[in-house]
Amino acid sequence: MIINGILLKASLELFGEIMCGIVGCILKEKKAAPVLLECVRRLEYRGYDSVGIATSSSGINIKKDSGKIDEVQERLQLDDLPGKMGIAHVRWATHGLPTRENSHPHTDCYNKLALVHNGIIENYQELKDQLQEEGHHFSSDTDTEVIAHLVEKQMSKGMDLEDALRLVIHQIKGSYALAVIHVDYPNIIIGARKESPLILGVGDGDYFLASDVPAILEETNRIIYLDDEDLFVMKNDGIIVKDSQGRVKENEIDVISWSPEMAQKGGYDHFMIKEIHEQPEVVRNTLSELHEIKKTVENFSDFKRVCFVACGTSFHASMVGKYLFEELVGIPVDLALASEFEFSAGALTDDTLVIFITQSGETADTMKALEMAKEKAETLAIVNVMGSRATREADYVIYTRAGPEIGVAATKTYVSQLTCIYLLAACMVGDEKLLDELKKVPDYMKTALEKEELIKEISPHYKDVTDFFFIGRGFSYPTAMEGALKLKEITYIHGEGFAAGELKHGPLALISDDVPVVAVVPPGKSHDRTMGNVKEVKARGARVICLGSQNDVNLRSEAHYMIEFEDQISEVLSPLIYVVPLQLLAYYISVERDINPDQPKNLAKCVTVV
Ligand code: M6R
Repeated sequence: MIINGILLKASLELFGEIMCGIVGCILKEKKAAPVLLECVRRLEYRGYDSVGIATSSSGINIKKDSGKIDEVQERLQLDDLPGKMGIAHVRWATHGLPTRENSHPHTDCYNKLALVHNGIIENYQELKDQLQEEGHHFSSDTDTEVIAHLVEKQMSKGMDLEDALRLVIHQIKGSYALAVIHVDYPNIIIGARKESPLILGVGDGDYFLASDVPAILEETNRIIYLDDEDLFVMKNDGIIVKDSQGRVKENEIDVISWSPEMAQKGGYDHFMIKEIHEQPEVVRNTLSELHEIKKTVENFSDFKRVCFVACGTSFHASMVGKYLFEELVGIPVDLALASEFEFSAGALTDDTLVIFITQSGETADTMKALEMAKEKAETLAIVNVMGSRATREADYVIYTRAGPEIGVAATKTYVSQLTCIYLLAACMVGDEKLLDELKKVPDYMKTALEKEELIKEISPHYKDVTDFFFIGRGFSYPTAMEGALKLKEITYIHGEGFAAGELKHGPLALISDDVPVVAVVPPGKSHDRTMGNVKEVKARGARVICLGSQNDVNLRSEAHYMIEFEDQISEVLSPLIYVVPLQLLAYYISVERDINPDQPKNLAKCVTVV
């Protein structure tokens, strides 16, 4: 069926989430601002440090500020703005602190247009320098604002809005989902997407755009998914979608049957599984931090040692950091659990770079350790939540760019922490080969996610066991630890991670046919010895789930179940990819045991007590 030139169908495409959320609408009868406010409220899970709305009605009207949506609404009455069309944004800051100036919508020099954007413009600095030289005046520190000025520049040469935007999206590098309104085009919203999610909604004479389906599901369930590099023109009588060359396309309309709650989870049953699936996109996103990390590294003073400090999953990322820095950077690395740091802090010397890894940036143990370390040494925080305490207290900050993580069990933030650590090490020694290898990780992860069906099938066999062991050596030891932590956190089954070589020093006494063992055995220098340990536990009756290369026939012959990975994945890179099936295993066992993996008992997303 064709509606306004668009075909109707009923299949779904799921997008991963990044940060921030955008919405927009052109309405037949109602005022736009109250609807936009409701829509961004439904996107607040994507970001929550600032919010803004722009509408078009006798000019462009903008209200925006930092703070949670309800706070800003109370201060500014965002829903007062006049007009039947507009755009809105909820922000999770990446470039520039959460301030009013950095809040979206952004404008050009003359406030003729308003623009909202989700994504990252990688070449914004060079574009901004050039625009400033040409006399453009910037009001924010954001990467987004360059898009507004670039459109202004093209339009000042006589181009219309659509041609100007098409040209601009060819000039910018990075990811974007964006929407623009312009004073000279009072009936149009124009936008585009690349690598950031953006969907359109078709109501009864009303039209919508949003980062994600839940934002507009109460307005309409007829959704158009845009392809990468699509551009759309929305008017009050329909939407036209074009490809990057300006050719009109017939994107189909999907009729969504999810409830609003299902939609927030992208159609998945839980946030955790949604977040597991977002990992390839998250890693791609984190990789775009390369430039920032290079700049950070240039500012480091000379140091002779590194000390990683963290808790829980972030500590496992630190363990990978230790192996990587010692092997690649060739400097001695200490590891400290944040809750234990005070007992060794006395020995800290000023030639040490202390690296704090924390998703929330607020974990009390980590913050206490950071306070202590600051007195003696230079500190770097690797953090997901912008504006959190760690970002204010550390000397240097690197953002992981995983977007808000809602499931209590850390998944996507773990792989983003690892990605930052690899980037950091590669930048410190100028290892271009590793940087190239890292670019392949999102694709390797996608293949790892294809193991989901197998894991779903085998999980029921493990739902009633009481103990589980995870073993690995070197780079695979942290993976084993993380697999065990995920399992105990969300299934309440006792899971224990061991360095495989330690088995013979005690734990072997516990192995029997009712204690399954997960062995992490990628190809590489630890392979043969871990194979020896697999044989050892098998000889004592254990059913072994082996994780290894698809070409590893010997490992397969020992495995009760074999989870295979591409042979090209090196041991060094394996922590980023081999952890994925372990997250899935914990998730599906949790579901089998009728536990809500998003909210395990006794645990909180952010632990603010020491
Ligand atoms: O926010 P942080 O990274 O500092 O949190 C550290 C731990 O509390 C956290 O990783 C915890 O172990 C997770 N729930 C693990 O899934």
